[in-house]
Amino acid sequence: MARPWRGVINEYRDYMPLDADVDVITLCEGGTPLVHARWLSELTRGEVFVKVEGQNPTGSFKDRGMTVAITGAKADGAKAVVCASTGNTSASMTAYATRADLVPIVLVPHGKIAAGKMAQAIMHGAQIIQVQGGFDECLELSRALAKEYPVALVNSVNPLRIEGQKTASFEIIDVLGKAPDIHVLPVGNAGNITAYWKGFREYRAAGISDSLPKMWGFQAAGSAPIVEGRIITEPDTIATAIRIGNPASWTLAEEARDESGGRISAVTDQQILAAQRNLGAKEGIFVEPGSAASVAGLVAAAEAGEVEPGQTITVTVTGHGLKDIDTPLSHRDPIEPIVIEFDVQAAAKAAGLE
Ligand code: F0G
Repeated sequence: MARPWRGVINEYRDYMPLDADVDVITLCEGGTPLVHARWLSELTRGEVFVKVEGQNPTGSFKDRGMTVAITGAKADGAKAVVCASTGNTSASMTAYATRADLVPIVLVPHGKIAAGKMAQAIMHGAQIIQVQGGFDECLELSRALAKEYPVALVNSVNPLRIEGQKTASFEIIDVLGKAPDIHVLPVGNAGNITAYWKGFREYRAAGISDSLPKMWGFQAAGSAPIVEGRIITEPDTIATAIRIGNPASWTLAEEARDESGGRISAVTDQQILAAQRNLGAKEGIFVEPGSAASVAGLVAAAEAGEVEPGQTITVTVTGHGLKDIDTPLSHRDPIEPIVIEFDVQAAAKAAGLE
């Protein structure tokens, strides 16, 4: 029998800055599928694989970092943890905090987080504080609370989050047997691009891979501070997960881009929604809008002739589509329900079989 996956701390123990006897708080996160993508491979005339992070326990990549951050906070004797969030961090943090008997405190932008993510934090028993402001203001408040009160900050400015999230790069190389030529991902607060780049470099330093990918990051056009080179005070996009105007890891994201010879560009909401639809309808993978920014970016680059043929490309899709069903459904033509009597012929007719 194949042994069960043990979560990213235990699977990649040698790469974790944790004591050997630490009490590991895990939901067996990681070990997510790397799925070959036919549509994207044809479009780029390469081999494209999608890293489906929505398969993590709370439906996003945040679980990789949260297992390490919560394990560390618990080991340090914390009683409460705080985070700012556009939704996924809070869904993940509350799940791990409750397993560790830590009190979760969550600050989210009022009215700007998807219902599914809010439901997760509520079901995990969190105190959710809705702030009149965006993610950037929530992060500022969280930092201040952690500074002045006995609560541990578990946003990605906490280095343990990055240590956990870098394991996605390890998994990609473990499956492909080599590093990709290009790795594509969405960029919000810029922790994840920082983490992937760290993971790719660590595996090369350990001699497990012998090359590094170009890092391609994509922001939403109304929330693209790194692309525009300025803080966006009123970020705007339907992709609420990445609605961030002043990313905490801004400089580290630029380093990942520049050291890898990569790029950080913007995609419009229309491109994001189209990529989300196409990924669902052509590849069978339903992701949330923020996650589709990576796919939208790759599609735009391919259509502009900016992708050389024959490359191996990996694309992270960061969160599950079920977290936010309102955005995609409200941006497509309404679907007329077909209602029939209990009758085979009526069913056949409705299905277009007759
Ligand atoms: N994709 C999704 C689905 C996200 O939730 C986030 C960030 C990102 C991409 C961007 O990752 O911030 O590391 O550059 N969500 C955070 C949150 C901000 O609060 O859930 P990043």
